[in-house]
Amino acid sequence: MRDGTDEFVVFDHVQKSYDGETLVVKDLNLSIGKGEFLTMLGPSGSGKTTCLMMLAGFETATHGEILLDGRPINNIPPHKRGIGMVFQNYALFPHMTVAENLAFPLEVRKVDKSAREERVKSALDMVQMGAFGGRRPAQLSGGQQQRVALARALVFEPELVLMDEPLGALDKQLREHMQFEITNLAHSLGITTVYVTHDQTEALTMSDRVAVFDDGRIQQLAPPDKLYEEPENSFVAQFIGENNTLSGVIDKIDGDRCTVRLTSGDLIDAKPVNVTKPGEKTLVSIRPERVEFNKDRLMPGAHTLKAEVLEFIYMGDIFRTRLRVAGKDDFVVKTRNAPDQARLEPGRQIEIGWLPSDCRALDA
Ligand SMILES: Nc1ncnc2c1ncn2[C@@H]1O[C@H](COP(=O)(O)OP(=O)(O)OP(=O)(O)O)[C@@H](O)[C@H]1O
Ligand SMILES: [Mg+2]
Repeated sequence: MRDGTDEFVVFDHVQKSYDGETLVVKDLNLSIGKGEFLTMLGPSGSGKTTCLMMLAGFETATHGEILLDGRPINNIPPHKRGIGMVFQNYALFPHMTVAENLAFPLEVRKVDKSAREERVKSALDMVQMGAFGGRRPAQLSGGQQQRVALARALVFEPELVLMDEPLGALDKQLREHMQFEITNLAHSLGITTVYVTHDQTEALTMSDRVAVFDDGRIQQLAPPDKLYEEPENSFVAQFIGENNTLSGVIDKIDGDRCTVRLTSGDLIDAKPVNVTKPGEKTLVSIRPERVEFNKDRLMPGAHTLKAEVLEFIYMGDIFRTRLRVAGKDDFVVKTRNAPDQARLEPGRQIEIGWLPSDCRALDA
């Protein structure tokens, strides 16, 4: 786990432009602790792979500096950085068998033959590819190739591993198994990991911290629970998890409370996050599992909203109810399937509310 003081990877004011005009990475400042598992999450084209390529040494930064264990890496060639890598297009050596692909990084590091064989075997077993050592990459499915690439990146127990969508081609079950294997191995060996994924659940469950990228910038860098519960801006609130948003204008602000007048004219209670004064436009954000329609559980004096039930969706472990609220038809409430939980029928009129601390007034 991350100890927070020992900075192993540092991006210091890093910028990157491929064409000399547009910056695809804009002033990136990021410190990753030794042994930390850090995930980069963000829309397609937001600059994640570019960051990994610069760290690996296959692209150079246009401005700024990258440090590895305290040393600038600009002058260290890629193969001398001791980094294990799984690329988005997992490039296995086509002329080598699976076992030879895995043995290669060990040969380069002068590991003797018997130790090599043992480590290749255990790495292949880890990715459930033990029976495929004699095959060539072209004789494997996409998901099998991906697992071999993963094993090859980890087989020499590097200090730093970079993984770009390493599980994208796997089915759900295998994917979850690999998530467990990767984090387990990384934590037990103290490997520092920079991981890229489009899968939010994967990011939240595997990482010590998640960096949400958009447009070449980190929008928020936080541990998973903080990211989900305390998004700092509208982009992060909408990108991570399911989220209800209502637009309005700040009516009153008093410390960590504010009142928002919605476009519909209704008043609601919220927590001011990145709004500062009355009159300012805002998008308020509330998670579907934090909406309350049982009045006994609301704070006395809290503002509530009228809502009409539009759709009740039974999902097994939870109920998902779609409401019309303040003129919007896509307001969602999630409740746990408990014996005493109400199943709201379409057409019913209810009143909803929340704790002000669960409703965040963000930028509009
Ligand atoms: N070699 C290159 N030459 C020119 N432009 C590039 C090159 N590689 C990437 N880009 C551009 O840089 C931007 C960031 O690309 P990058 O591959 O870092 O995004 P990403 O966040 O990894 O996206 P994805 O989630 O789709 O993999 C994109 O607009 C992309 O078109
Ligand atoms: Mg990419």
